[in-house]
Amino acid sequence: MHALSAAQIIDIYQTHGSMVYAGETISHLAHAWQCGQLAYFAEASPELQLACWLHDLGQVIHSLEGRSTPCGQDDHHEEVGAALIEHLWGPAVAEPVRLHVQAKRYLVTRHPNYLTKLSDESRRSLDLQGGLMSPAACLAFECSPHHKSSLLLRVWDEQAKHREWFALSRRDALDQLRDLMKSL
Ligand SMILES: [Fe+2]
Ligand SMILES: [Fe+2]
Repeated sequence: MHALSAAQIIDIYQTHGSMVYAGETISHLAHAWQCGQLAYFAEASPELQLACWLHDLGQVIHSLEGRSTPCGQDDHHEEVGAALIEHLWGPAVAEPVRLHVQAKRYLVTRHPNYLTKLSDESRRSLDLQGGLMSPAACLAFECSPHHKSSLLLRVWDEQAKHREWFALSRRDALDQLRDLMKSL
């Protein structure tokens, strides 16, 4: 898939946002909205809020194409998602998206107790995504100017899987996303 426009991204969440997030118990739209809300209430920058909203866009695309990690492969959804949005909002939005899987690997490597915060699906996909990081990989991750944003995103990502949290109608949630996109 080629780079997307903002309108196409809204359309994807409007049309397919109710798909269940693979291996979890909530929809893609609910997960995206919750992650964005956690960033909003933490007073994250608009760029990081949007990254939180869109961090699993690549997974939505893969689900549409019938390819996702439950098939036993790493879908590299973080790379797919970042590549689809980088031309629209630049690295401040795309890089935390690109790094959010590495951020999980980093957190589990540096803080083994972090493993207990992962959902079953997130724990299962960890191995497919490379598992624990080597010391050199940890260092390379820390050298990225966006690694701190990706760590924040990752912590909210873990928390954004509550079925009862999706309080808005789909239309209101998409209006929030549209307004955030326009603000950048
Ligand atoms: Fe993800
Ligand atoms: Fe996620």
